[in-house]
Parts: sequence; structure tokens; C-alpha cells
Amino acid sequence: MKKLILLASGLLALSIPQAQARDLATIKSSGTIRIATNAEFRPFTFMEGNTMKGFEYELGNLIAKQMGVKAVWVNQPFDNLLIGLGSDRYDLVISSHGITPERQKAVDFTNPHYCSGAIILAKKGGPTTAAGLKGKQISTQLGTTYVPVIEKLFGKNSVKTFPDNAKALQALQSGRVTAMVNEKFYSLAAAKANPGMFVVGDSVYEERIGMAVKKGNKTLLDAVNTGIATVQKNGEYAKLSSQWFGQDVRCK
Ligand code: ARG
Repeated sequence: MKKLILLASGLLALSIPQAQARDLATIKSSGTIRIATNAEFRPFTFMEGNTMKGFEYELGNLIAKQMGVKAVWVNQPFDNLLIGLGSDRYDLVISSHGITPERQKAVDFTNPHYCSGAIILAKKGGPTTAAGLKGKQISTQLGTTYVPVIEKLFGKNSVKTFPDNAKALQALQSGRVTAMVNEKFYSLAAAKANPGMFVVGDSVYEERIGMAVKKGNKTLLDAVNTGIATVQKNGEYAKLSSQWFGQDVRCK
């Protein structure tokens, strides 16, 4: 059996069986594209009751519409997302993945659908600068690009990872860590949702964010790239972006 070595994070090397990826023709004739995300990442994808919402959720639906299919969304832990592509559990992952050389060994990324970065979120009154947090405990989500950023900036033993962001935020709330490093808009939303509790600090990282397909699924990759380009040209992307962020987050 063919094996795919998937490096989901710097620490994890998994060997998983390869199933047949659904190409564009198969997806079109089925009428649906299966899109996976980790829907606890407001304002990108998140749950409100049983309803999924967010910028990437709406963007994914627009792209599915461009392809003439309906999007069926699957909610997964972040650290599992790229692994599930390899075993054909869904066709596309849209979950704010930074495009990194390591991930590119395991999956194919679309052209970036937005550019952003990570920022420090601290408790009110606590240190908010990279220098002020050296050697302190910093929380973040497991499997993210922020893990090596924290190790580099604050020291190897500084990082405390959590499978989900809610737990990483709770750790900050309860004082088990001094700060959290997370996506800029996620952190701003968390600060806004908890008035008086958190303050946003230094920006510490910039990245290009892409959608992922199974390695080699070229027909699907091309169709998604066309979809992104189309909505970026026809004004739908600009409208969505200003609605969610008050600015256009496409890569310049
Ligand atoms: N941009 C970061 C990364 O590439 C974090 C993404 C987290 N996404 C999520 N849906 N929780 O690793």
C-alpha cells in the first residue's frame, strides 16, 4: 500500500494510507464539495448554535457556487485537518492554514486567499511586548504555525499548546499562561468579546493563508484557484472582507 508521510506540525510525523482523491469531474457530478474546517476560529469559521458562520465559511460557499456545486462543511480538530485530506474524508480544507514548505510536502495549497499574522494577546496589565514576555508561558493552538514562532521568540519551554483555541484562551484567562499568541483578527475578536479582560500587544508574525487539497488533485486545485480569482475580481471578496474585518485582507 502506498503511504503518505504527512508532516502536520514540526513534531508530528504520521504515515497514513492513501485513498483516491475526488477530482473536479467527480465532485461536479456528485453536486457537492466536502469542505473541512476547525470552526472555533472566529471570525474565520465558527459555530453559533448549530450554524456555521464566518469569513472563510462564506468565501468557501462562494467558491463552491463558482464551481456549480453545493458546499457540505465538516468540523474537525485543527490538528487533524490535513491528515483527513490524505484519507479522502473531504475534498478541500479551508481553515486559515499558513502556506509553509513543510505543509507543502503533504498537501497542495491554492493561491493565498488572505494575508495576516499573529499577535500577542495579554491579560490587562500584563506584558504585551515580545521583549517583556521572554521566558514566560505562552498559550496557542496545537499544530499551528504559531508554535515555532513562540519557541523562537520566547524560548523552547515557553509554549503551552492546546487542541482548541477556547482552552488556550481559558489558560490566559485563569493566569496559567502570561499571554497567548494567535491570529490577529481572532485575538481582536477575543478581546472584544471579553471587555476589560485582555489587551492586544505586538505583532509577531506574518503569513500567507491558503486552502488545501490532496496532493496531486490538480483539477480541483485549478478550479478553486479560478474561484478565488473570480470572487476577488467581481467584488464579492471585497464585500465579504469589509463585512468581517472592516478592510480588504487579500495579499498585496
Ligand atoms: N494560521 C495558523 C496556522 O497556519 C493558525 C490557523 C488556525 N486555524 C484554525 N481554524 N484554528 O497554523
